Amino acid sequence: MTAVGSVLFVTFITIGVCSSYTVDSKELLLVHVISRHGARTPVDTYPKDPYINTTFYPAGWGQLTNEGKWDAFNLGREIRKRYDNFLGDFYDNEIYHSQSTDVDRAISSVQMMNAAIWEPKNGQKWGELNWQPVPVHSETLDQDMLLLVRKMCAQYDIEFRKLMSSPMVQERLRMNKELFEYLEEWTGNSINTFDDVQDLYSTLYAEESFNLTLPSWTINIFPDKLYELTSLSFHLRAYNDILIKLKGGVLLKKIIDDWASKKDGTIKPDGRRMFVYGGHDSTIANLLSALKIFKPHVPDYTSTIILEFSRDRFTGEYGIEVFYKMSVHHELQKMRIPNCDSFCLLKDFLRVTADVVPENWEKECHTDDPDFIPSEPIGP
Ligand SMILES: *[C@@H]1O[C@H](CO)[C@@H](O)[C@H](O)[C@H]1NC(C)=O
Ligand SMILES: *[C@@H]1O[C@H](CO)[C@@H](O)[C@H](O)[C@H]1NC(C)=O
Repeated sequence: MTAVGSVLFVTFITIGVCSSYTVDSKELLLVHVISRHGARTPVDTYPKDPYINTTFYPAGWGQLTNEGKWDAFNLGREIRKRYDNFLGDFYDNEIYHSQSTDVDRAISSVQMMNAAIWEPKNGQKWGELNWQPVPVHSETLDQDMLLLVRKMCAQYDIEFRKLMSSPMVQERLRMNKELFEYLEEWTGNSINTFDDVQDLYSTLYAEESFNLTLPSWTINIFPDKLYELTSLSFHLRAYNDILIKLKGGVLLKKIIDDWASKKDGTIKPDGRRMFVYGGHDSTIANLLSALKIFKPHVPDYTSTIILEFSRDRFTGEYGIEVFYKMSVHHELQKMRIPNCDSFCLLKDFLRVTADVVPENWEKECHTDDPDFIPSEPIGP
């Protein structure tokens, strides 16, 4: 090949590679992945549950099933494939941080994802296993200030009680009075709220996905009717800007702070490229609500939100793209933040979400009422 020929050849290759890398002319800077754990055995039961004495041996209650392990592993594979070049070949604690709630099934799911994202190569291969340890961080449950926000927040409880006693919710409760009585009779549990329905729905859903035959009293109401009311419980938990700000807003604020420090070059450690967070259905619902893209539904096992923070190579502007994978059976789907472009510029994003990002959570949660009694935390 002549010198000119090889220059042309190299140029051709370079253009080819560049155009496939930069289809949309953006440079990817930071990725946040937030997912619910994989399929699990039931967490809860009810007094008249035919499976009340089941041990779910060898998994035990509230643990990942083998299917759930696979689902989390496959999610990790999908992330490896999508970000292969961005992450590079070698696990590096500067580049990558994974964190879970302090709940077994969520920790195990992140471990499975890590196994798929960071299969050891070359110098990181240490033995026969095609696996290497990747740390999964977590906060203790009652101090959780990121993925569940279980730390006591009086104003959240006060606002939620106000919502529950509003005419709108009281009417919805009245409309379902007969159903609640029916559920009480067959379960032996007291069912007074949509959160109670959510607990029951989660138990039946887990039993069914474990291939147990559900009792005949469930036939006309499961999944459809109970699904609808469970969706409503997620919707109510993040029904207005105050509730969102004091719950899902906390995680959103952390993500926004990460973008800001990435943009300024002050992010620690320097090389950070990805955060992977493992949580629960409420983690997903509350973050979708904070992003203003929650449509009433029940976030399924391994449902996943991905936020990509990039810089436009031509304009130099920073922006965000949001994706949601509803379940293992769904593709990752691009979501449109309301009142924002598809590449949502950081400044627009901050404007759109201003009302749901806490400034000083402790202060915003505080009440001076000496008679205030905190509610029991719901969820895991
Ligand atoms: C569960 O075990 C208890 C105690 O042995 C027994 O009384 C009850 O009938 C069992 N329930 C079911 C549904 O098997
Ligand atoms: C339930 O049955 C399906 C279909 O036979 C199977 O693929 C799945 O692994 C089973 N799940 C469990 C937890 O046994």
